[in-house]
Amino acid sequence: MDRDNVSGGSLDIDQLKKYAQDLAKVYKSERQKRRELEAAYQELQQAKDMLVQSEKLAAVGRLTAGVAHEILNPVNIISMRLQLLKMTGDLSDRAREAISICKNQLNRIIQITKDLGQFSRIHEKQITMCDLKEIIGHVLAFGAPQLKKEGVKTDVEYHPDLPLIPLDKNRIEQVILNIISNATTAMAGQKTKVLRIRTKPAASEGHVQILISDTGTGIDEGEMNRIFDPFFTTKEPGQGTGLGLFISYNIIQDHGGRIWAENNGWGGRLFSSIFR
Ligand SMILES: Nc1ncnc2c1ncn2[C@@H]1O[C@H](COP(=O)(O)OP(=O)(O)O)[C@@H](O)[C@H]1O
Ligand SMILES: [Mg+2]
Repeated sequence: MDRDNVSGGSLDIDQLKKYAQDLAKVYKSERQKRRELEAAYQELQQAKDMLVQSEKLAAVGRLTAGVAHEILNPVNIISMRLQLLKMTGDLSDRAREAISICKNQLNRIIQITKDLGQFSRIHEKQITMCDLKEIIGHVLAFGAPQLKKEGVKTDVEYHPDLPLIPLDKNRIEQVILNIISNATTAMAGQKTKVLRIRTKPAASEGHVQILISDTGTGIDEGEMNRIFDPFFTTKEPGQGTGLGLFISYNIIQDHGGRIWAENNGWGGRLFSSIFR
């Protein structure tokens, strides 16, 4: 500011305008800074929440990997003994039925245990340079009959310029399959059934993002922070193990990425961002 002009009372209109403009500029940039600060704060909060969540999951992961191994041994022995018992000639129908029920329940235990084993650290990773488009295409081709049967339409757009990224192809395919399978279930009974998939570069340097959304029921806000917990399921007994998203979370984390869910106006939505 020109002090002489102000004190001399000869401040002209043009100068006043300029001061006003400068002030407006300062105000605008302050507002922008405030917005950036708020966004950074929100991101920090999110990162904190995720850290708590991931530590919790890592601890459970270590425990379950050990337990899974310990469970499979006795289960195999019981399974073999039942098989022997079944081969005995003089069994009543009731006894045979009981054996068959036991075998079915054992199979359930084996399935859950195998699911748990999938994310165990013992699993050997096979990292290769992958094209996300190819991976998603493969999963969609694999899931096509099911999607068609359920009447789900797909709306897929790939970003034209994504780099190849180092991934364990099989495990990332499993994550996408899990998400698509959940989306399909969430859309059962809805009038519009659209599965939307997008890929794009993520905000953080060197990451890419896959966005998968559906026109399903959405996720109950109260359940949002539980869906990645092991055994959390809203499905009927026998329909879901509650392990799909738990395993997916661990796989993405193993890749140095993150996965989260939020609701949009028209249904459940899941994003994942994968490390390059
Ligand atoms: N796209 C989605 N829309 C609505 N709810 C979902 C969606 N994806 C996951 N969920 C919720 O998260 C729960 C956990 O999912 P998941 O770990 O895959 O286990 P499961 O499919 O065996 O129930 C589901 O039971 C469901 O309540
Ligand atoms: Mg599932």
